[in-house]
Amino acid sequence: MLTQKPIAFSGIQPSGIIHIGNYLGSIKNWLELQDRYQCIFCLVDYHSITVRQTPAELRKNTEGLLKLYLACGIDPKKSIIFIQSQVPAHTELAWILNTITYLGELKRMTQFKDKATRYKENVNVGLFDYPVLMAADILLYQTNVVPVGQDQLQHVELARTLAHRFNQLYGETFTIPQPLIGKGAKIMGLDDPTKKMSKSAKNPGNYIALTDDVETIRKKIARAVTDSGYEVKLSPDKPAISNLLTIYHLLSNIPIKDLEKKYTDKGYAKLKKDLAEVIINFLKPIQEKIKTLDQKTTNQILAAGTRKAQTLSQLTLNRVKEKMGLI
Ligand code: AMP
Ligand code: TRP
Repeated sequence: MLTQKPIAFSGIQPSGIIHIGNYLGSIKNWLELQDRYQCIFCLVDYHSITVRQTPAELRKNTEGLLKLYLACGIDPKKSIIFIQSQVPAHTELAWILNTITYLGELKRMTQFKDKATRYKENVNVGLFDYPVLMAADILLYQTNVVPVGQDQLQHVELARTLAHRFNQLYGETFTIPQPLIGKGAKIMGLDDPTKKMSKSAKNPGNYIALTDDVETIRKKIARAVTDSGYEVKLSPDKPAISNLLTIYHLLSNIPIKDLEKKYTDKGYAKLKKDLAEVIINFLKPIQEKIKTLDQKTTNQILAAGTRKAQTLSQLTLNRVKEKMGLI
């Protein structure tokens, strides 16, 4: 099980839907890493509960997300897949890291500031401490690279800072992780191309969920906002069309230049019509594969992943405790 390959670790929250922004910003890049790295993919349910969840829905979403991972091509023979709350070392290390994290470092976090504004009625301590738990996730596995979208960069930076700080205070313990930001790192909302596509958007027209059916996809793309003018071109003054072109390009592998040429005189409507079909064809095999996965299979995969994650994380946690005088 212990390989010579460098370690890649990433996590995704099992809250709500998974959209093509998540796929293109993270899962797609993970697929490409599976051979070169020992990949560890974690369903971070303790992060999800920093925002109020309905228990039955959280359970359903976690199961659904696992199936999605598998259907997208995450291979349990190559990668370790597990649920964060089933490996206690994560919260244990988070507590320890809390003691070397400064309030000011967490107060600066953009995501905290955003969420504290968005969920005014529930600005809980967990939401504030979220980046420290994420640092624990990463550092427990002696992670070399963390493939995430751009929005998570600040959190990975904190993990690096804490790793350095701990190593300095108590001696070499943690590998310093590097963020790995893939292309397609920021897909924008279909209803507002100035903001990122987001699973917490109030308007479902903001995103294409990986589980959306054919009619929904056609409708959402048809309704996606466009820019003024007619020209199909990747350009900063055309944020909406640039976003559609980027999605088209990343899902079809057709270079943007070729797409611009193809749609020169055809206008936005034709671009949208074709893009909807590209998305539908891309999602079809994923959706079909999901239907073939039963709970017995997913339970087996999780049990194996949890076992491996427990063994690896315990090695680091024991070292940390020893260095600090805790055992
Ligand atoms: P989250 O939706 O915050 O749980 O994010 C899961 C993963 O998807 C993280 O790696 C994010 O950086 C990535 N991600 C989320 N939204 C987008 C987006 N609109 N474009 C690209 N990547 C995204
Ligand atoms: N905070 C990340 C997000 O919202 C999810 C996450 C939790 C994560 N722990 C992680 C990502 C560790 C990478 C590594 O996207």
